[in-house]
Amino acid sequence: MNLTELNRIATAMVAPGKGILAADESSGTIKKRFDAIGVESTESNRRDYREMLFRSREAMSQYISGVILYDETIWQDAKDGTPLVKLIESSGAIPGIKVDEGTQALPMCPGELVTVGLDKLAERLKKYYERGARFAKWRAVIDIGSGTDGRGIPSMTAIGVNAHALARYAALCQAAQIVPIVEPEVLMDGDHDIDRCYEVTQRVLNKTFQELRVQRVALEGMVLKPNMAISGKKCAKQASVEDVAEKTIRLLKACVPAAVPGIAFLSGGQSDEEATAHLNAMHKLGPLPWGLTFSYGRALQAAPQKAWSGKAENVAAGQRAFSHRARMNGLASKGEWQS
Ligand code: 13P
Repeated sequence: MNLTELNRIATAMVAPGKGILAADESSGTIKKRFDAIGVESTESNRRDYREMLFRSREAMSQYISGVILYDETIWQDAKDGTPLVKLIESSGAIPGIKVDEGTQALPMCPGELVTVGLDKLAERLKKYYERGARFAKWRAVIDIGSGTDGRGIPSMTAIGVNAHALARYAALCQAAQIVPIVEPEVLMDGDHDIDRCYEVTQRVLNKTFQELRVQRVALEGMVLKPNMAISGKKCAKQASVEDVAEKTIRLLKACVPAAVPGIAFLSGGQSDEEATAHLNAMHKLGPLPWGLTFSYGRALQAAPQKAWSGKAENVAAGQRAFSHRARMNGLASKGEWQS
C-alpha cells in the first residue's frame, strides 16, 4: 500500500470548491428516478443520461472532484466510443466505483439491514483499478424507528455488523490502492428529532471508527461519507439550517479524527437547496480539521433529470441545470454560497 498516494487522492476528492457526484444509482434506483420523469430505464438511456452529466464541461472541470459510478457505467462507452471513465478523467475528475452489493435483512433483527458484497471483493477491486477507479464506496444503512417488534432500532447488533463490514471493505480497498469512501448512512426517514439523529449517528460513527482501527485501516487514506445531524422527514419540529450546521459540526468534531483528510456528505433526501445551505452554514463555523464537502446524488441530479426528461434536444438544458447545482455546492464547500 502506498499511503502517500492514497492520501493525495483522498485530499483531491475534498479539494476546496469541489465535491463528488454520486452517480452510482443501482439499476433499481435509477429506474425509480427515470420513472419520475417518464423515461424508460434502458441501458442506452442510462448511458445517454450519464454521458450528458460527464460531458458538462463547466461542472466537471471546476466543481466536481470525483464521480462515483455503478458497475454497468464503468464498463460503458459514450456514443462516440470513448469509455465514460476516460470522459471523466479528461475533465480532471477522478473516477470511483460503488462496490457494495446492496442490503439484506439482518437475521434476528427485525426491520434492520446489513450491507453485503465482501465475497470476491479483492478480485473486483483489482479489475476496477485497472479500468481507472481510484476510489470506491460502500454504503451501510441504519434506520431509526420503533422496529417491527417494538424494541426500538437501531440495535447494537445492526450497528456492529455494518461497522465491521465497512472496515473489512475499507481495508481491502487500501490493499488494492483504492481510497475507500466509508458511508454509514443514518436515514432521515421517520419522525425522530434532530437530537435522536445526533445520538444515533454518534453511536454509529464511534463504532465505525473503532472497527476501522481494529482492522488497521489508515485514516489518512480514506474519506468519510456521513449523514448530517438533521430532523427526520416526518418530524413535526424541523431544525433550522443553523441548528443542523452547529450540531453536525459538533458531532463530527467529537467522532472523526483529524487524521481523516475529508468528509463528504450524502444528501439523503434533503432538497437540493437545503443540502447546499447546510454545507454552506457549516463552513461559517470553521476552521475545520478536515476537508468538508458534498458527495450528493439526488441533490445534484434532481434538477438535471427534470430538465433533460430523456430528450436529446434537452441535453444543453440538463447540463446547465447540473452545472448550476454543482457551482452552488462548490461555493457552499467554501462557505461562499448566498441564497
Ligand atoms: P444522495 O445524496 O441522494 O443521498 O446519494 C448519495 C449516495 O451516494 C448515497 O449512497
